[in-house]
Amino acid sequence: KRTLSNLDVAKKRVLVRVDFNIPIEQGVEVIASYDQRLRATLPTIHYLLEQDCRVILCSHLGRPGGKVVEELRLAPVGDRLAELLGHPVRNLLDCVGPDVAAQIEELGPGQIALLENLRFHAGEEANDPEFAQSLAALAECFVMDAFAVTHRAHASTAGITDYLPSAMGLLVQREVEQMGKALESPASPLAALMGGAKVSDKILVLENLLDKLDHLFIGGGMAVTFLRARGYKTGASTVEEDRLDFARDVMERAAVRNIGFHLPNDVVVASAFGSDPPESRTVPVDQVPDDWYIMDVGAATAAQFSEALQACRTIIWNGPMGVFEMPRFSEGTRTVANAIAGLQGVTTVVGGGSTAEAVEELGLMDAMTHVSTGGGASLEFLEGRELPGIAALPDD
Ligand code: 3PG
Repeated sequence: KRTLSNLDVAKKRVLVRVDFNIPIEQGVEVIASYDQRLRATLPTIHYLLEQDCRVILCSHLGRPGGKVVEELRLAPVGDRLAELLGHPVRNLLDCVGPDVAAQIEELGPGQIALLENLRFHAGEEANDPEFAQSLAALAECFVMDAFAVTHRAHASTAGITDYLPSAMGLLVQREVEQMGKALESPASPLAALMGGAKVSDKILVLENLLDKLDHLFIGGGMAVTFLRARGYKTGASTVEEDRLDFARDVMERAAVRNIGFHLPNDVVVASAFGSDPPESRTVPVDQVPDDWYIMDVGAATAAQFSEALQACRTIIWNGPMGVFEMPRFSEGTRTVANAIAGLQGVTTVVGGGSTAEAVEELGLMDAMTHVSTGGGASLEFLEGRELPGIAALPDD
């Protein structure tokens, strides 16, 4: 696929699709700990500024469903971006139409405008060619730098490439190269560390990875279904009954292929599901009390996982080890994250979404080889699926 260095952008009006879909509270403030998606776009923006481009940024925010939702305006995000860039960003009040066109017309070389939330228009998610053309009319070329939304075939991610010379930005290029390498030519041993709430979210990833892996570690909520499939009692925790066969199948295939398969040996359990339950303690996996909830991997498990990961040369991590957002149950994720971050000469590729948030909160972003900005998009990439926002780009 064409890269930014092969697109003639100098002095042009360049429309850049970014993903600034970050949780903002009531449109007031961008929480600093969620800066990852903004910071990740800086290299492309700097590159374009150096080329004297007129930079037109566009993004969605939330799911306003094709109408204006005041709380989902992008201006606070634009203001935060301006701070990070050390360069003014003009926040526009719409993303298409004559007023927007007039304001873009006024942009000088090296100036930046941020269009209003694309999803205020139904044409964005409908991939409406007319809407894509209206966006295209603002610019002379298009750069796709919104990796996190490449799994959506929308007007600004796929449709637009029909109307403008296009290329991937530096962020998308890095994501594709880093994750592609971990999948296609990893230094071995290759490990997958899987967590997060549900097995069903990870089925296709496991299907795609299983034949390549040397080690598979399972933690988080999804470990509950695997533990039940092994015959353990799992208290009041949610078991995905319809995934028990899949879990058994994974364990059988791992055994046949001699994959090191690691499930928790001890877990942190709580008498109620919540951030401050009346009681919580660590128990071996065969002693989970009835009516209690599994909230995290235990300290022994976190230590065993950390130890076994030391033997690996490539680690793909997707999903926290416990209910990380509740401080009492964040220890397993913290221990494993610190262990991975401390490894030397190991390629560590971290999926986006809640795993990236955990890594960011722990201040370990720079200690990983690559932390994806994509949640759903990184999962689909790891599933081996074609991403429409990348497929639409021209081959070089
Ligand atoms: C994300 O945050 O994963 C992307 O921005 C995609 O958002 P969506 O799931 O609303 O399409």
